[in-house]
Amino acid sequence: MRNFNLKILLRLSALLILVAFGAFSIFGCTNYGRMRDDEAVEAYNDEFPKMPKKTIPIDGGIWIEREADPGSLVNPLPQTPDVVATGAERYKFYCIQCHGPRADGYGTVGQSFAPLPANLKEPRVQNQTDGELFYKIRFGFLRHPALFPTVTDEETWALIRYIRALAG
Ligand code: HEC
Repeated sequence: MRNFNLKILLRLSALLILVAFGAFSIFGCTNYGRMRDDEAVEAYNDEFPKMPKKTIPIDGGIWIEREADPGSLVNPLPQTPDVVATGAERYKFYCIQCHGPRADGYGTVGQSFAPLPANLKEPRVQNQTDGELFYKIRFGFLRHPALFPTVTDEETWALIRYIRALAG
């Protein structure tokens, strides 16, 4: 008889503990912070502020340039010593590894290309307009990488002035 009572008592207390845990897991956590109540998340629940007109650019930018006719692009920079010097400096950053220190296509990296990167002094390059060269350098052609993500348009125009200076 004593044994039986103990068993029931044990079972009852086990049940109680289970119920207590169950209740805790359902209701007990509500006092803790929830991820969705976080300041960083709440910011996204705020209504999006009204945008003033013309906030989103609808002109200028890379895609306008991309759709342009290369022949119509005009170099905005003059053929002056300081523009050429800027171009020469940028050449050492962005082009020398392929086109080489003498701009003849014999750069360290360039030698893995077949045929080699162009000799920038030769007529095939020099006879093209600034706009044509600009477009090719910026958006790439054949095996040439598109350099618009790395080289700004102004730097590219200066580089073309440098290429012109190489011919003379
Ligand atoms: C990853 C190597 C690489 C880099 C970097 C590179 N070029 Fe080239 N370039 C080439 C290759 C290769 C060619 C020849 C492309 C072909 O004919 O497939 C070439 C060709 C050219 C031509 C000749 C265009 C024509 O009509 O044949 C010009 C101009 C030129 N590059 C300018 C530049 C300038 C300026 C830079 C730096 C801003 C530059 N390149 C950076 C590899 C490179």
